Amino acid sequence: MSATKGLEGIVAAQSSISSIIDGVLTYAGINIDELAENASFEEVVYLLWHTRLPKADELDNLKKELAENAEIPQNIIDILKAAPEGNHPMAVLRTAISALALHDTEAQDMSREANLRKAIRLQAKVGTVIAAFSRIRQGKEPVAPRKDFGLAQNFLYMLNGEEPDPIAIDALDTALVLHADHELNASTFAARVTVATLSDIYSGITSAIGALKGPLHGGANEAVMAMLEEIKDPANVESYIREKLDQKVKIMGFGHRVYKDGDPRAKHLCKMSEKLTKLTGQPQWYEMSVKIHEMVTGEKGLKPNVDFYSASVYHSLNIPRDLFTPIFAISRMSGWTAHILEQYENNRLIRPRADYVGPVNVKYVPVSER
Ligand code: ACO
Repeated sequence: MSATKGLEGIVAAQSSISSIIDGVLTYAGINIDELAENASFEEVVYLLWHTRLPKADELDNLKKELAENAEIPQNIIDILKAAPEGNHPMAVLRTAISALALHDTEAQDMSREANLRKAIRLQAKVGTVIAAFSRIRQGKEPVAPRKDFGLAQNFLYMLNGEEPDPIAIDALDTALVLHADHELNASTFAARVTVATLSDIYSGITSAIGALKGPLHGGANEAVMAMLEEIKDPANVESYIREKLDQKVKIMGFGHRVYKDGDPRAKHLCKMSEKLTKLTGQPQWYEMSVKIHEMVTGEKGLKPNVDFYSASVYHSLNIPRDLFTPIFAISRMSGWTAHILEQYENNRLIRPRADYVGPVNVKYVPVSER
């Protein structure tokens, strides 16, 4: 038995949710470019769960259910308030989502109907948790979600306590569409492995959040912004990137396990970054990003992934840097829950083998003789 490092190229599941074929990403067969231009995030949530677009009444019902389930229990707010200072919002989110299971009387009900209801509750509440934590750590009270707002609008509203600008709502909604699902990415795989033991949906989502947190996966968007802030000025890009490349340090937001010819989501975020940074009067974030892009692609042949331009997009929406990955989680909640539902439908324990490379035939030595 020989191992494939990082399971590269291994096909580990069948899925009808999203596909990456010849560099083209589709959700249930629909090209991501079409969805980014036309669909709302709520439509995409429905599409991923049901592998078809919702009819008007189905979409209305979903929006209503999401809005009605957006509040979080006081106990969860208390947990957010009790989190010691300095904790990363992804760590807090992982804890809060796990704690939500304790308040869900259906947590252990494994029927598809109950799991779909839990998926709605998780999708509805994830943004509320993040926004509430963001306010609590600033010494402010959480803002209750509005029943007449969609997910993107409600998130920005709860974060800032004021009605968001339509341009910001639209930009966040598109970003949520673009991040919603991505086949067997690391966090989705983690979720599927967990629920394939027939553990519950909350356990699957908790595993997924833990996997998304890492800088080689969702954590990269925050790392990109940290890099941009360190560079400060487009004039500093060349020397900064040169030094990193010479030191063989990875440039965050570049490269991808599956896309070698470019991530189809990046061009949408690039356009959004150009528009939003201009609107906010801070074009330097886009200009720096373009310079880094040209240099890293020119010298290493590496293309930007979804995380690269999303950093300057979220920054333009006035979102704190350490909430970038939690926002990814708001979006990917739809894909994670869709994959969990699919895994339950046709389950088999996921249990690969290891290529053992340790010592053999070693004799046990009693502790007194070691
Ligand atoms: N900057 C510089 N060099 C890179 C980068 C990068 N961003 N990405 C890959 N490389 C180089 C590696 O150093 C390696 O070079 P070597 O063969 O000389 O050692 C080669 O390209 C292959 O890289 P791997 O890390 O083996 O590629 P893998 O498929 O395992 O990793 C990954 C893909 C994790 C995305 C990688 O490109 C990376 O670390 N990128 C930066 C982090 C990042 O942006 N992550 C977000 C990914 S998208 C998402 O999850 C939402």
